Amino acid sequence: MELDINGRRHEVQDEAIDPAMPLLWVLRDVLQMTGTKFGCGVAACGACTVRVDGEAVRSCVTPVSAVAGRSVQTIEGLAPEGRLHVLQRAWIEHQVPQCGYCQSGMLMAAAALLERQGDPSDAEIDAAITNLCRCGTYPRVRQAIKTAARELASPARRASMEARQG
Ligand code: FES
Ligand code: FES
Repeated sequence: MELDINGRRHEVQDEAIDPAMPLLWVLRDVLQMTGTKFGCGVAACGACTVRVDGEAVRSCVTPVSAVAGRSVQTIEGLAPEGRLHVLQRAWIEHQVPQCGYCQSGMLMAAAALLERQGDPSDAEIDAAITNLCRCGTYPRVRQAIKTAARELASPARRASMEARQG
């Protein structure tokens, strides 16, 4: 089976996987991409969130066969060539992560949200991002998404943030 992950083709031997195997296990155990986390395994927590054709999906309940021929993005692909994504910079600015376990899923859900909604309200963020965080980072997640949205809307601000990143 051929998979498109973070803009690269990955050939996965058919004998290495069952088509019904959750995408999460293929990412973590077959391709060694461990940035995507396992939390509940039943689509409840969002720790395993990746993007498929831009949409946030829970990879623990997504059979790998469902993403063949589609574009998958994981947390490893959010910062191509080491340049942090606007959301990652905002995450740092607001010191969002605490233990960090849920954060890759949060970021992928936030990236999907910002792409379809440039200036989300608190209510819209809460409705779109149902990921669970045991550390209670929700207020900082909201602030960081709004900072990222402002940055995306202002080329001057984006340039200054990127310059600070070096
Ligand atoms: S591990 Fe997939 S939603 Fe919890
Ligand atoms: S930062 Fe600890 S679970 Fe979210």
